[in-house]
Amino acid sequence: MGQIPDHIKDALRKVENYQTIQLDNGICIDGKRTVYDRWEFIEPIIAGGLYVDVGSNFGGFTRYIAKKPGTVVVSFEANPWAAKIQKWTLEEEGLDNVILINGPLQTAFFLDWMRCVELIDGILFMSILHHFPVTHALSIWKAARNNIPNVFWELPNPSDGAACGRETFQKLTSVLEESSVRLGTTPSHTGPPRNVYLDQKWSFEFYGKNYLGCPTDKMSVKKVTYGTANKWSVEMIDRSLHVGVNLWNLLGHNIIYPSREKLADMGVAAYQKVIKNEPHVEDIRPWNLIFTPHGMKVIDYATIMNGQDDYTLEHLRQSILTGKY
Ligand SMILES: C[S@@+](CC[C@H](N)C(=O)[O-])C[C@H]1O[C@@H](n2cnc3c(N)ncnc32)[C@H](O)[C@@H]1O
Repeated sequence: MGQIPDHIKDALRKVENYQTIQLDNGICIDGKRTVYDRWEFIEPIIAGGLYVDVGSNFGGFTRYIAKKPGTVVVSFEANPWAAKIQKWTLEEEGLDNVILINGPLQTAFFLDWMRCVELIDGILFMSILHHFPVTHALSIWKAARNNIPNVFWELPNPSDGAACGRETFQKLTSVLEESSVRLGTTPSHTGPPRNVYLDQKWSFEFYGKNYLGCPTDKMSVKKVTYGTANKWSVEMIDRSLHVGVNLWNLLGHNIIYPSREKLADMGVAAYQKVIKNEPHVEDIRPWNLIFTPHGMKVIDYATIMNGQDDYTLEHLRQSILTGKY
């Protein structure tokens, strides 16, 4: 049986104990809501791929997804104490395929991110969308379902009188329900049970930028399908697709797990591996790195610039450490 360190006991006193925490080392901390009962509905749809958990609290769903082979999870949690507790759980479970951001998912960022060609397999909006102003929640929702094949969501029951944001969740439920299927129902701490839903889509056409802040107006046009094997396939592209997230798209955020230093080491090591075979590698850039289930991968480099490019591995390290280019 593992031990709960004092700094985590202290953090637990400072935040609403929303999710029950259950770790492989036997640690169990009771919360207002269990995760496993809701995870059982979601689990059959999760295969290897990139997932986003919005309002991830103590990381219950993030950990379950991350334990499935071939997955990467980007986890957003606004509350610093909840995020600190989640970070500890990820360390305890030794999960190295998660990027945890402590900060609110900003609507403007999300809409920009969804304009990039980032192949996200699924997103979780579990009891979170009613925390946004209703117009923002609807924009986030629309952007997600235009780009992501599996959109999971849960809101307080429309008849719930105790949950906050009643007008918002009533309005959202009526809109979101139209395109979704109900996966199941679980108890809630605020009153009537809550439904877990899935909105699925299989074919997409992206007119997206390759990464956030791409300095050219060049847009990638990709016809993309998400087949029955839960795998992306892209027309007119001859390279194999890596599961993962473009590191650059997240570097402007408050990433608290893994550490910036670890990400920088991983980024530099990924390029060093390429340089071993191709000594004249140029176009070393943070947006050419993908954080994958099996470490960092370089997706692009050049060998033809004849030494004109003076961006070095040290620049790359600084860029990952600071989030600036
Ligand atoms: C009601 S709890 C739901 C937790 C979890 N998704 C679940 O269903 O078990 C909402 C969580 O979202 C976090 N949160 C609220 N607004 C957020 C935002 N804009 N971005 C990220 N997290 C947010 C809160 O701190 C809280 O941990």
